[in-house]
Amino acid sequence: MKYLSSAVMAAALMMAGAAQAADTQAPAKAGAGVKPLALRKVMQGLDADMQAIAGGIAREDWPMIAKLAPRIAEHPQPPAAEQKRVLSFLGKDAEKFEHYDEQTHHAAEELHEAATRADGKGVIAAYATIQTLCLGCHQSFRKPIVTHFYGQR
Ligand code: HEC
Repeated sequence: MKYLSSAVMAAALMMAGAAQAADTQAPAKAGAGVKPLALRKVMQGLDADMQAIAGGIAREDWPMIAKLAPRIAEHPQPPAAEQKRVLSFLGKDAEKFEHYDEQTHHAAEELHEAATRADGKGVIAAYATIQTLCLGCHQSFRKPIVTHFYGQR
């Protein structure tokens, strides 16, 4: 990556964002009778907020983004019992999973600060960081979690 120009980097980040979107748009089919994790609802909320923020960037609506960023940073948590099930399934990888969550929180705070300053480039950089974290966590953890808790994919 360090050999790439920043324009190429930006394009790569946008593609990462597109890949994330394409990946998450495919509805995960829960096996018949499997109750979805509360985590899935949390994710659907993040997805909606990220899409609204992308729309806000296009319209340079920094106040709207400043309002939405805390919803990413302070997203709801699944109930404690579910968190325990997920983390104990992940075992030694639980720390890495939680790290992705923490990093997302920090990047959303940066997004909030940049939007408050009406710093468009800062907003885009923070947005790209968040999407890269969404993608990173999904690439590492989505498949094993869906396979384990829903019994498929
Ligand atoms: C800490 C790890 C982690 C992070 C960070 C993360 N996700 Fe997820 N995401 C998951 C897991 C695990 C699933 C699968 C949950 C399930 O199917 O029950 C998932 C599933 C999804 C889904 C599919 C939901 C569905 O209806 O099947 C969407 C959309 C999504 N995430 C969006 C996002 C967005 C947007 C971000 C970044 C703002 C994000 N996620 C960050 C772990 C993460």
